[in-house]
Amino acid sequence: MSYLHNPFTELDSKFKELFGETPEAIVRAPGRVNLIGEHTDYNDGFVFPAAIERSIWMAASPRNDGQIRAYALNFDQPSTFSLTNYEATQVPNEKWSNYLRAMIWVLQQEGYALSGMNVVTSGTVPIGSGLSSSASLLVAGGLIFSSLIGETLDPVRLALLAQRAEREFVGVNVGIMDQFISALGKRNHALFIDTRLLTFEAVPLPESGFQIVIADTNKKRGLVDSEYNTRRSECEQAVTLLKPALPDILALRDVSPEDFERHSHLLPEVVQNRARHIVTEDARVLESITALKASDLNRFGALMNASHESLKTDYQVSCAELDALVEASRTIEGVYGARMTGAGFGGCTVSLVADEAVERFQKEVPTLYRRATGLETTILITKAEQGAERLR
Ligand code: GLA
Repeated sequence: MSYLHNPFTELDSKFKELFGETPEAIVRAPGRVNLIGEHTDYNDGFVFPAAIERSIWMAASPRNDGQIRAYALNFDQPSTFSLTNYEATQVPNEKWSNYLRAMIWVLQQEGYALSGMNVVTSGTVPIGSGLSSSASLLVAGGLIFSSLIGETLDPVRLALLAQRAEREFVGVNVGIMDQFISALGKRNHALFIDTRLLTFEAVPLPESGFQIVIADTNKKRGLVDSEYNTRRSECEQAVTLLKPALPDILALRDVSPEDFERHSHLLPEVVQNRARHIVTEDARVLESITALKASDLNRFGALMNASHESLKTDYQVSCAELDALVEASRTIEGVYGARMTGAGFGGCTVSLVADEAVERFQKEVPTLYRRATGLETTILITKAEQGAERLR
C-alpha cells in the first residue's frame, strides 16, 4: 500500500487503550482533488477528479447498548452519543462527530438497523482546504456503520447516502462529485464522471511525465456554504429563464455553447455569467479528456487555466489568495496549467507540473506566494489513490 500515512498501529493502540480490545473493522476513505469540471456537478454536468493519498480512517467494534463512543485522534477529543439521541447532543466545536451523526441519520432514514459502536478516527485530509475532508468522513462513516452490521453497500449507493447526509443533515446543498470519487476512486486514474447518469470512465494517469501538485492557500474558507447555495439557485434560475427558448432542457448541462450564445440575452447579467461558466466548463471537461488521452498536456493545461479564469470572472468563487497562488504557479516553466480546485473562496490550487519542474515549483512558488500575500503555502504532491475500502 502506498498511503502517505498508515495509521493502523496508532489506531489499534488507541483503540486498545480506550476500549480494551482490538477493533473488528478498519476502513479508509480518501479526499479528492478535482482536475477540471468545477461547480458542474449540481448542474448534471461533467467532472474529472482523482482520489488523493490522504484519507480518513476509522477503526471500530460493535456495542450492544446502542451507544456511540467515538474518539478523534486528530483533535484528541472524545464524543459520546447514541443511535436514538444523537441530534440533540450536537456540539458546535465537535464538527467531526456531526458527520458521524449525519450518517446515523441517513442510514436510519433508509431503514438500516444500526449497531452501536466504539470507534476511533484518524485523518490526513487537511480540514476545510477544499480537498473533501467532509465527504471522506461521511463515506468512511457509512462504510464503518455498514461493515459492523454485515451490509455491503454498493459504492454508488454509499456516495448517494453520504451526499444526502450532507445536504439534509449538515445543510449544504452539495453535488455528488466528492462522495462519488471518495467511494469509487481508482489508483493511478482520474474519473470522468457524468453526474446525471452517475456513470464514469476511469482515465489512466501516466506513471511519469507530470505530477499532480496541490498547493494550499492556507486561507481559511469563509462564506463558502452560503455562497455555494446561492450559486446553485442562480443556476436553477438560468434554467427557468432559458426554458421558453429551449423547452427540452432540464439542467445547464443540456445547454450547448452555441445555444447559450443565441439565448443568453434572456438572462440578467449575473445569472448570465454564472450560466456561461457552467456551459463552457462542461465543454472544457469533454475536451480535456480527449487531450489527456492524446497525451496533449499543453492543451490539458490550457483548459485548466481557462477553467480558473472562468471561475474567477464569471462564477466569482475565487479569491485574491487563490489567484496569487495560481499566478505564482504559472510562472514556473514546466507548469502546464494551474487552477483553483473545489468549491473556492480559499482552499487549494491544483497544477499539472512536468516531472523535471516539480523541484523548482516547490522551491519558488512558496516565496512568490509569500511575497504576494504574506501567507505560507503547503505543497502536497499526490498520485491518484484507490477509493474507500474496508481493510480489516
Ligand atoms: C464542493 C461540493 C461538490 C462540487 C464542488 C465544486 O466540493 O461538495 O459537490 O460542487 O464544491 O465543484
